[in-house]
Amino acid sequence: MVKLGDTFPNFFIKTTVGEMYLNDWIGDSWAILFSHPADFTPVCTTELARLVQLHEEFSKRNCKLIALSCDSKETHLKWLNDIKVYAGTLQEGFPYPIIDDENRDIAIELQMIDPDEKDAQGLPLTARAVFIIDPKKKMRLSILYPATTGRSFEEVLRVLDSLQLCDKHKVATPEGWKNGDDVMVQPSVSAEELKSSFPSLTIVQLPSGKQYIRKVPQPN
Ligand code: BEZ
Repeated sequence: MVKLGDTFPNFFIKTTVGEMYLNDWIGDSWAILFSHPADFTPVCTTELARLVQLHEEFSKRNCKLIALSCDSKETHLKWLNDIKVYAGTLQEGFPYPIIDDENRDIAIELQMIDPDEKDAQGLPLTARAVFIIDPKKKMRLSILYPATTGRSFEEVLRVLDSLQLCDKHKVATPEGWKNGDDVMVQPSVSAEELKSSFPSLTIVQLPSGKQYIRKVPQPN
């Protein structure tokens, strides 16, 4: 089981754009590996189409996308046009690869299998997993949705913004935070350091008298 902060396994991957080691494909970028239950299914089509639309936003943040299901590469390739038409684009090619995990090696190692979802042969399918991997190949986020609930990829983009911001500055992002909103100084920052590092600080007064909500404008 890969835990937050662990080095992500360097799988050898068979994809719609060729075969390679995952780390070679990631290079110096961030990466998001996400699984879906099956090709040519409705919710999965909406998800992959949304990522066709959002792909540029992830690229701007130096983040590559890669999908995965237990379908073959040939099935993935046949599905791409449906996804592009649903996304409302006629662009050439497809903006991110899809992994063929027909033998389920990656799905099993990353524990992405949904016990309730089976293919026509009764073999288990992947749930809707999302992994964010940073340029040092550390796993920074892991979420697992059931097959019947489509994800919001705006939320994944929001987490990526938060991770990249909090890697640079000693801040944390509150509930519902959006890029540009105020953020919180991390609890580990001492009162001494506060003065020098965060001059535009607002401390929220609370009944406990403890001064732990320390808001600052989002650092650049
Ligand atoms: C879908 O993508 O629509 C889907 C796939 C598997 C189970 C339920 C829904």
